Amino acid sequence: MSVTEDDDDPADDWRGLDPEDWGELRALGHRMIDDMIDHLAGVRDRRVWRKMPASAREAFRTRLPHHPAGAGAAYDAFKSQVLPYELGNTNPRFMGWVHGAGNPVGMLAELLAGGLNANLGGRDQSPVEVERQVIRWSAEMLGLPAESSGLLVTGTSMANLVAVLVARAHRLGPQVRSQGIRGARLCAYASRDAHSCVPRAMDMAGFGTEAMRAIATDAYHRIDIGVLRARIQADRAAGDTPFMIVGTAGSVDTGAIDDLRALAALCREQSLWFHVDAAFGAMLALSPTRKHLIDGIDCADSVAFDFHKWAQVPYDSGCIVVRDPAHQMAAFAQNASYLRREARGMAGGAPWLCDLGPDLSRGFRALKVWMTLQAYGADRIGDVVDHSCDMAQAMAARIDVEPRLQRLAPVNLNIVCFRYCDAAGDLDRLNVDIVADIQEAGLAAPSTTIIDGKLVIRAAMVNHRIRRVDVDRLVDAVLEAGRRRTVRAAS
Ligand SMILES: Cc1ncc(COP(=O)(O)O)c(C=O)c1O
Repeated sequence: MSVTEDDDDPADDWRGLDPEDWGELRALGHRMIDDMIDHLAGVRDRRVWRKMPASAREAFRTRLPHHPAGAGAAYDAFKSQVLPYELGNTNPRFMGWVHGAGNPVGMLAELLAGGLNANLGGRDQSPVEVERQVIRWSAEMLGLPAESSGLLVTGTSMANLVAVLVARAHRLGPQVRSQGIRGARLCAYASRDAHSCVPRAMDMAGFGTEAMRAIATDAYHRIDIGVLRARIQADRAAGDTPFMIVGTAGSVDTGAIDDLRALAALCREQSLWFHVDAAFGAMLALSPTRKHLIDGIDCADSVAFDFHKWAQVPYDSGCIVVRDPAHQMAAFAQNASYLRREARGMAGGAPWLCDLGPDLSRGFRALKVWMTLQAYGADRIGDVVDHSCDMAQAMAARIDVEPRLQRLAPVNLNIVCFRYCDAAGDLDRLNVDIVADIQEAGLAAPSTTIIDGKLVIRAAMVNHRIRRVDVDRLVDAVLEAGRRRTVRAAS
């Protein structure tokens, strides 16, 4: 075989999308890296969020660009249109929802992954081995068998859906994939504090959200095992078929952790699939002092969690681990003729990762996880987990001695729910306004939720950069915004 060049063939000058001048692109790339490292290094000193003015939003309404503006102009557009109005979850005073902060090594890994442009659906290639190693590390972290299977996915919402589909095929047999559920009255169980993506997974799996029974919780927001047991019996008596219990390790509202060992025993006794939604709680496995809180997770049939939350890997990086690879394969393996697996050549390396989940083309999200874990070490992530729980305790302690504030839930882990209460009238409305005032001033970013029917300010310490001063600034901001609003209302 030889490659010949015809000097006269203009097609030989075809450059595709590569630059004429690699040096120019290299200089631009260096500038981007310098700018983003400056951006991260200075994040503490910037406001958290800036609302996009109408003029900036309007800049996104231009028509499809047909002619080249050049990489420099595209980068300028990023700097003027995108960078100033991002959500700000790299900032240590961002405490809304459950957002991770990412990390600088993970950012650089994204550049490397983009350079390789690997497709991890399958085939015989080193990036697939990276993902397999990440799954083995995950199983090791959770105490699951070394031969467990798994996959990196967008996030825990997708990981929970994968788990429901695996459990569905386990209960109904692989023919459910060709025949559908055919009216099977399968039902599953989770605490009423479970994340909304858990019933949504039941919806997408064809059972409907009502087939996910929302079980009452105890004073610590953990699933009530007695109520759960009674409901399973009642469902069986009514002709339904229980097939799965979803334990929560770190509930989104209060960080509550179900009694996983008790749920595992109940699943064994009742022959049910035991899945754990450990979206952020999985990382407790790395904590030197709080690992015991997720005792029993090692008994799960499957665990869903995120690297992009408490493990600080850049978005998106969710993970599903399944104890028995045969069950995951039974739910997803495919054998299209154009995806033939071979003993030799690039089409080797079976089973392919596309046999374990819904996606065929899959990006190299494993690299940022792999490099983050190597660069910092798993123990450092465990320290971050402990530090953020300590910060939550510090915030709770300040709130508890402040008469104008009221705490409305136990601080199980890293989440504090409280509200400004030194006012007459509609406290729900007042606290919604306080949160929006603080966000719009760029001071900090709490979010809200409902606890026992009351709207509360919710601060989740997920960000690895958070310090005591950030905790104090959020509490100070709430007190000041509350004072201003009540003074205004009184005058
Ligand atoms: C307990 C729990 N489960 C599931 C999810 C959904 O995870 P993701 O946003 O990665 O899909 C979250 C998100 O905060 C969560 O806290």
